[in-house]
Amino acid sequence: MIRLAVLGSGSGSNCQSIFNAIKDGRLDAEVVIVLSDNPDAYILERARQHGVPAEVIDCCGFKNKFPLEVQEAVAKKLQELKVDMVCLAGFMRLVKEPLLSAFPNRILNIHPALLPAFPGVEAWKQALEAGAKQAGCTVHYVDAGMDTGEILMQAYVPVLPGDTAESLHARIQVQEHILYPAAILSALSRL
Ligand code: GRF
Repeated sequence: MIRLAVLGSGSGSNCQSIFNAIKDGRLDAEVVIVLSDNPDAYILERARQHGVPAEVIDCCGFKNKFPLEVQEAVAKKLQELKVDMVCLAGFMRLVKEPLLSAFPNRILNIHPALLPAFPGVEAWKQALEAGAKQAGCTVHYVDAGMDTGEILMQAYVPVLPGDTAESLHARIQVQEHILYPAAILSALSRL
């Protein structure tokens, strides 16, 4: 059985979509651990509700930094758990060495824009403010940059007249929840 790890900092609706896809047979895999750098993140609660071990990554009080020794410890833990694929789902810290090379071509991220347009935070808001006609979401392999790795799959979401940041993000998230499990499946087929 393919072993997945999910890392997130927030609500975890994408993690939920992975749980759902596994449950209804679209994704033949199991989530063996959920990790969050935010002890209050709802993603941890979702994991526990699904009987999945959920742990906090202690970033030693750093607000944005993902310290080297902490990445080392995370890499070690995921290797010990024999994780096949690491899925970032709203994880707000930049993954770097040594975690990257511990899982070559095995770390995915979902981003709420049509990369390479609008990398970084609140990408849907950036798209709206730029007057884009099309928004969307992207699943990509993770490299050392911010939202720069090889693109695996994308879904388009039209920007509608009268859209607010909230309404657009909500429609993008509907597509994210379909896209991420499908993209994980595609990445697994390439291993
Ligand atoms: C999603 O919009 C994802 O694209 C971005 O962060 C958000 C996470 O949402 N990277 P959730 O925690 O999965 O609900």
